[in-house]
Amino acid sequence: MINCTYIHIPFCKTKCNYCSFCSFPLISKKNEYIDALIKEIRFHYKNEEQKTIYFGGGTPSILDINDIKRILDCFKYSQNTSITLEMNPNDINEKKLLNLKKLGINRISIGVQSFSDDILKIIGRSHDSHTAISAINLVSKYFSDYSIDLIYGLPKQTIKNWNETLEYITRLNIPHISLYGLKIEQGTKFYKFPPENLPSLDIQADMYKNAADKLSKKYIHYEFSNFAISEKYYSKHNLAYWKRDNYYGFGLSASGFIDKMRYTNTFNYREYIKNPQFRDFEELSKQKELEEEIFLGLRLKEGINFKHINQKYGIETEKKYKDIFEKFIKEGFMEKTKEGVKLTLKGILLSNEILCEFVEV
Ligand SMILES: C[S@@+](CC[C@H](N)C(=O)[O-])C[C@H]1O[C@@H](n2cnc3c(N)ncnc32)[C@H](O)[C@@H]1O
Ligand code: SF4
Repeated sequence: MINCTYIHIPFCKTKCNYCSFCSFPLISKKNEYIDALIKEIRFHYKNEEQKTIYFGGGTPSILDINDIKRILDCFKYSQNTSITLEMNPNDINEKKLLNLKKLGINRISIGVQSFSDDILKIIGRSHDSHTAISAINLVSKYFSDYSIDLIYGLPKQTIKNWNETLEYITRLNIPHISLYGLKIEQGTKFYKFPPENLPSLDIQADMYKNAADKLSKKYIHYEFSNFAISEKYYSKHNLAYWKRDNYYGFGLSASGFIDKMRYTNTFNYREYIKNPQFRDFEELSKQKELEEEIFLGLRLKEGINFKHINQKYGIETEKKYKDIFEKFIKEGFMEKTKEGVKLTLKGILLSNEILCEFVEV
């Protein structure tokens, strides 16, 4: 059964300087894209009732209500389905929110990124802080379930103004917060023209530590980058990724995971429009699956469950990785739980290096 769906909308008004996502300012192509998207959905979707539907991008809020309705109408879902739409603060107004609600959208993810106008300009966002604050207020009026995205480690960001941001957002009672450390990715404007005044990696790590400490007083830090005010507000859709449940991915560059097979759609716009049904499945070896299970499990607050993994892969996880677990526990990067192990905050900060130790080449 496949009960989770990701839908990629690749259009944005402008391209942000740090962004490597498959997105571009070609909104004039919208109708042709939605036609292709619907073709792809009709071809692959097996009419299962969906538990989660996630419109991501790009900027899905750039679409008109009728466009979103056309896409949603392809699916079977109920009042219990968690349906998220990523929104740019500039697109948020009362009429749009009411119409989205009528359609059945019940979770909004707002791309705030920063509350400093200076920084928003440097990173090439199309909105300002005033618009972001009004957007949060408005969304909170109509939706109980919503989230904001923020980035730390941005040019000109200091520990002092990041701490002020943390204090500010804690007061706002936002049910869910996602925090990402800035990555300078190939193919972005920042890669070509590195920005000045970038905080060092050590400062970026301190920013993460401060966020984890401060937000944990009020929030459940349930995944590396995600904080929820209660379990009710966990991102159900993202939990499906982290728990390796099946999910559909529809649209340009979208990826899905079905019966232990992963696929990623083409990133080439013309190719997608010509043949949106095309899928290239990649079968994962047992070892790769196990590594994924460990990587994704360690992202979560509860860590990995040995019994669960052992049953699934017919191995003894604690024996197979005994030396690695013992070393990291001794050094304070991991800690034992009732069911297995989890990363400590110190471990999260070094997670890339730690996860590498599990990879068999
Ligand atoms: C799928 S992206 C796009 C969301 C939406 N288009 C927006 O920008 O508001 C989700 C989030 O990833 C984060 N992100 C994107 N590129 C990043 C980068 N290079 N480094 C760190 N975070 C990034 C941003 O916080 C962004 O809101
Ligand atoms: S960060 Fe979001 S809004 Fe900016 S270009 Fe990328 S997808 Fe579009």
